[in-house]
Amino acid sequence: MPVDRILVDARIATMEPGADAYGTVAGSGAIAIAGDRIAWVGPMRDLPGGLDAVERIGLDGRWVTPGLVDCHTHLVHAGNRAHEFELRLEGASYEALAQAGGGILSTVRATRAADEALLVATALPRLDALIAEGATTVEIKSGYGLSVEDEVKMLRAARRLGRERPVGIRTTLLAAHALPPEFAGDPDGYIDLCCGPILDAVAAEGLADAVDAFCDRIGFTRAQTARVFDAARARGLPVKLHAEQLSDQGGAALAAAMGALSADHLEHLDEDGVAAMARAGTVAVLLPGAYYFIRETRKPPVEALRRHGVAIAVSTDLNPGSSPLHSPLLAMNMACTFFALTPAEALAGMTRHAAAALGIAADAGTIAAGKRADLAIWDIERPGELAYRIAFNPLYRRLWGGR
Ligand code: NIG
Ligand code: FE
Repeated sequence: MPVDRILVDARIATMEPGADAYGTVAGSGAIAIAGDRIAWVGPMRDLPGGLDAVERIGLDGRWVTPGLVDCHTHLVHAGNRAHEFELRLEGASYEALAQAGGGILSTVRATRAADEALLVATALPRLDALIAEGATTVEIKSGYGLSVEDEVKMLRAARRLGRERPVGIRTTLLAAHALPPEFAGDPDGYIDLCCGPILDAVAAEGLADAVDAFCDRIGFTRAQTARVFDAARARGLPVKLHAEQLSDQGGAALAAAMGALSADHLEHLDEDGVAAMARAGTVAVLLPGAYYFIRETRKPPVEALRRHGVAIAVSTDLNPGSSPLHSPLLAMNMACTFFALTPAEALAGMTRHAAAALGIAADAGTIAAGKRADLAIWDIERPGELAYRIAFNPLYRRLWGGR
């Protein structure tokens, strides 16, 4: 079989489900790459003969994992909310700032005032921070435009980022993120805009891979969320939800009943919601950066998620208000320290289960023949180290699509 390069003398955490939690290849391993795909992975001693690789790359026993998948970010936005951080430290709550017209709406004002080029330019350093820690796929949501032209502008900027950098970008339309001022008192009127003109414009340009909403007291109701989901599904777009972040609205159960890829945040999720997610195969995306930064005290029900067999993903939630976190590795560390995930669960949460939360598990998230050769190579002694250190980056090299 003709391949382009073979990584040899590697220790490999495939993250495929199997005998151990890391899907570890026994002994010294090899990965053969053809084009942008993994052609073969396994122990060196089983390397098939006749793999006439152009290039053999020795890794001196370094660890290889799947490239990291950051499955929930809001990294395209203008401005920042450092002032609100100060106000919160003086006692204002995240929710109270939102109700007073700040919060998400403050970023909406800045984002509406920015053009696409400025959104791209300010997002690039954030994206680069994720790439520098081994991210090979990053999801980016809209949701700071809240009008046809501004939501389209955000998603075009997100798509542009994928042409500017060697990284897979998955875009999510999050028009139902907050109520824009011109619709004050008329949330259903705004949902009409989300379900009609915004979705039409975004779908016409193929700008979104999925549709999200914020179901909460400062977001939208279950009924409004269901309307957004119906409209998305009518256009063949998968759905996901910001659910049970600040209060229990039964959003995760609704999302699960409507076949959502994921429900995200989940600090206020109850057992019925967990069971509904398990039945539907909806991934639980935990966002410890937001838990930390808004100083939430209630933790997501990790034990119940495990008991019901719900897949758990972990993500940065990179955004200017609730989680200005630019480090996937620190998100993994926080998932362990705050939510008691094991380091193996945290790594699965930033690889295999994150890919499932984006609907791209056939292509990404584990090291297996046929999948994209999106790989991270690390200077570590054991894979548990990835969730262990705080603010240290052991990435040695990163391959995206085999390059
Ligand atoms: O994931 N909860 C809603 N959306 C974002 C926060 C956005 C913001 O505060 O700007 C989140 O936490
Ligand atoms: Fe979010």
